[in-house]
Amino acid sequence: MTTKKILITGGAGFIGSHVVRRFVNHYPSYEIYNLDKLTYAGNLENLKDIENKSNYHFVKGDITDAEFIQHLFHEHQFDGVIHLAAESHVDRSISNPLEFVLTNVVGTVNLLNAAKSIWHNQYADKIFYHVSTDEVYGQLGDEGKFLETTAYSPNSPYSASKASSDHFVRAYHHTYGMQVKISNCSNNYGSHHFPEKLIPLMINNIMNNKPLPVYGKGENVRDWLFVEDHARAIDDIYHKGSNGETYNIGGNNEWQNIELVKFLCQLMDRKLGRETGESEKLISYVTDRAGHDFRYAIDASKLMNELGWEPSVTFEQGLEKTVDWYLANQEWLKNVTTGNYQQYYQSMYASR
Ligand code: NAD
Ligand code: TYD
Repeated sequence: MTTKKILITGGAGFIGSHVVRRFVNHYPSYEIYNLDKLTYAGNLENLKDIENKSNYHFVKGDITDAEFIQHLFHEHQFDGVIHLAAESHVDRSISNPLEFVLTNVVGTVNLLNAAKSIWHNQYADKIFYHVSTDEVYGQLGDEGKFLETTAYSPNSPYSASKASSDHFVRAYHHTYGMQVKISNCSNNYGSHHFPEKLIPLMINNIMNNKPLPVYGKGENVRDWLFVEDHARAIDDIYHKGSNGETYNIGGNNEWQNIELVKFLCQLMDRKLGRETGESEKLISYVTDRAGHDFRYAIDASKLMNELGWEPSVTFEQGLEKTVDWYLANQEWLKNVTTGNYQQYYQSMYASR
């Protein structure tokens, strides 16, 4: 292991906190720096269990601030970067696309420039790992899966900004020879997930007996992966993935939204001691999302065959762990759903 000082961006968010935890715990000889702006989606409570570890350091900062980023890289001379910081919610990108361009595109280029300027074209033992999404490939019909070779065809401002950042990362590899790795993952679920995304929003609303807003007819399909399996895939790709390569990550676990919500309702009826079918009565069909991608599905055979990765839990196991975490951490939910969240919820759902 030659890479020792690693910058993880967005480490206070949902997936980032699982990646930070994994690297801090599994690699005690690494110094892990977590850079996060702490937007509405970033929460240091997510990392309470490791915050006092000697190989963990937190830096509050904004990746859109080029001067600050340059200074940070020159001060710490990072050996590697795992870049997760982003605006990540499609619905918010529909309301405010520019914020997604600034954070996801300009922020990524700022990080690439800073890495380039401290690594001086000596990239052999340096790694820039960019964490991306399957949404860059656009939408599928009833058949087929996304491969690493599938042409990019992003449909939402969010996926367009992620696609653009992927292209910049690849361009720094091609043009300057930077050692880069990119992964494109399907929808994640698990603990510490901000309750604006489908699964944690539904869990929160079921707990509070609030309507369950299903967009359109609920027929859209997503491919769900347990977040800890994503973090382990990132670890595998960071350490064993090939330079300049892209890896798709997914759990081969497709669900129609409405079927997923019903399954979750049944699970929560059991957990909350409700009669079977009680939570399902909360389902409420609402106006569809503009430009709503129909189906995503990942072919992860490259990652599985080349690096030996595979998911560690079934969806049933992962979802049960997730629900148990939310039930045991209602204080966390309460903290993140007060204040701005209420305004967001009001403006997003009141008019649907
Ligand atoms: P998240 O919204 O939960 O967390 C994003 C984090 O980035 C937050 O901690 C936030 O404070 C931080 N951040 C935002 N803007 C910043 C800025 N300007 N400077 C510094 N920090 C900033 O997101 P997530 O769901 O954990 O996603 C993490 C990454 O994984 C993103 O790049 C996303 O595109 C990608 N991804 C997510 C999923 C998913 O299902 N959630 C799937 C595939 C890929
Ligand atoms: P989301 O969790 O926002 O992830 P993404 O849009 O990035 O895939 O949404 C997952 C699916 O659930 C998507 O098809 C939109 C749908 N959805 C609802 O039906 N209701 C909701 O309240 C939300 C947030 C999402």
